[in-house]
Amino acid sequence: MRILAIDQGTSGTKAIVVDEAGRVLAIAEEPLHPRYLDGGGVEQDPVALLDSVLTAGRRAAGEAGGELDAVALANQGETVLAWDRATGEPLTPAIVWQDRRSASVCVSLAEHAPAVAARTGLVLDPYFSAPKMRWIREALTTEGVVTTTDTWLVHRLCGAFVTDSSTASRSLLVDVDAVAWSPELVDTFGLGAEERPEIVASDTIVGTTAAFGGELPVTGLVVDQQAALLAEACLDVGTAKCTYGTGAFLLAQLGGAAVRSPAGLATSVAWTLRGDTSYCLDGQVYTAASAVRWLTDLGLVTGPSALDTTSAPSSDGVLCVPALAGLAAPWWDPSATASFTGMRLDHGTGHLVRAALEGIAAQVTALIGLLDSPLTRLRVDGGLTRSAVLMQAQADLAQLPVEVYPSPHATPLGAAACARLALDASAPVSDVVGGWRPSATFEPRWTPDRAAAHLARWHAAVSASKEIPH
Ligand code: G3P
Repeated sequence: MRILAIDQGTSGTKAIVVDEAGRVLAIAEEPLHPRYLDGGGVEQDPVALLDSVLTAGRRAAGEAGGELDAVALANQGETVLAWDRATGEPLTPAIVWQDRRSASVCVSLAEHAPAVAARTGLVLDPYFSAPKMRWIREALTTEGVVTTTDTWLVHRLCGAFVTDSSTASRSLLVDVDAVAWSPELVDTFGLGAEERPEIVASDTIVGTTAAFGGELPVTGLVVDQQAALLAEACLDVGTAKCTYGTGAFLLAQLGGAAVRSPAGLATSVAWTLRGDTSYCLDGQVYTAASAVRWLTDLGLVTGPSALDTTSAPSSDGVLCVPALAGLAAPWWDPSATASFTGMRLDHGTGHLVRAALEGIAAQVTALIGLLDSPLTRLRVDGGLTRSAVLMQAQADLAQLPVEVYPSPHATPLGAAACARLALDASAPVSDVVGGWRPSATFEPRWTPDRAAAHLARWHAAVSASKEIPH
């Protein structure tokens, strides 16, 4: 059984072909270039998104020599656009999950925040889909339908009008316990007139497409972060992973109950598979590889592959709060800004680069501290796991062994696993992900006291980041 699994992410689209033994037979990647606008806007060209899916998918399918059994699609989760339901043509840019411009919508709905949180498990924040959908209706167009990108891409591939339960649960429009659109929430956001896609399980076949050669079932629809949680076999309650992509996202398995976090983490659907819904807690660092791209654009580092050689052996008191697109859990402050503090005349770019990496690791550590049950180890994946400096900083600050997932393709492998379940009705979930051995394990080298002191200084810097008027 060969699955074409496509990971449509923020910074690019990756397509792999994977067989039932988990062997990756072909890989193709297409970069994407989000536009960063005044006022916190982050947009993508929907046509470029679709082209990247088709181009990467066709290249991978071609390299694997055809003979595919299904296509799976992981999506960004909370990126939205308006589009014409009849023609499939986009009517707006894709408004990316990092876009802060719908903060005004959240402010105007602030009185509803407790009810929204109780029903959805999420916080009223521009990160999630509904504020951006409302903002599109107020600022851009009242025409067409407004949906997450998965719904549009799948419609373009096979004509279905669907979203999967994990993506729907990131919208602020879903009763997370019932896994169903909430008419009250839809009204709260003034989206009552909208046609909503059908919510499907991640192992549902939603149609067929000839876009990649032959007629292939379309299935394995899932949020990228949840796909990585599945690939890393975080099936037992309390197991957790962090993916260091455009942002860094910590997800912990909750099992069958949508337990709310008293600490401000988000509760959402991990997946619906085999008729059962699993939930997860998640915490977010909005800018991880995004922060590295920003450092690169400023000329402080030549790119992600040069992080470790550019980084100074110690940050020597320099601290970074990498809040370049606001702060998520537990601060939930879209207007927070990034900061570097503690610099002296003898510091150079190496100190800033190390401080940025330690800042990402410190923020992930803060999120780990908010999980209901303490972790004994942290599973990690994503492009930035190639930075040993970042991974060591993560182990040092979290005081946990950090286990690196052996494949750079956790997200598409998770989507492929969902597709495999769709094609093989007898396979249990545990069979399609299986066990894995880390390609590297980073053990903490700092003492607990040193880690605690660093984190205390970093938290003070976060408070300062939130207080600077701008
Ligand atoms: O919530 C947004 C996130 O899922 C996007 O993932 O891989 O583009 O950083 P990525």
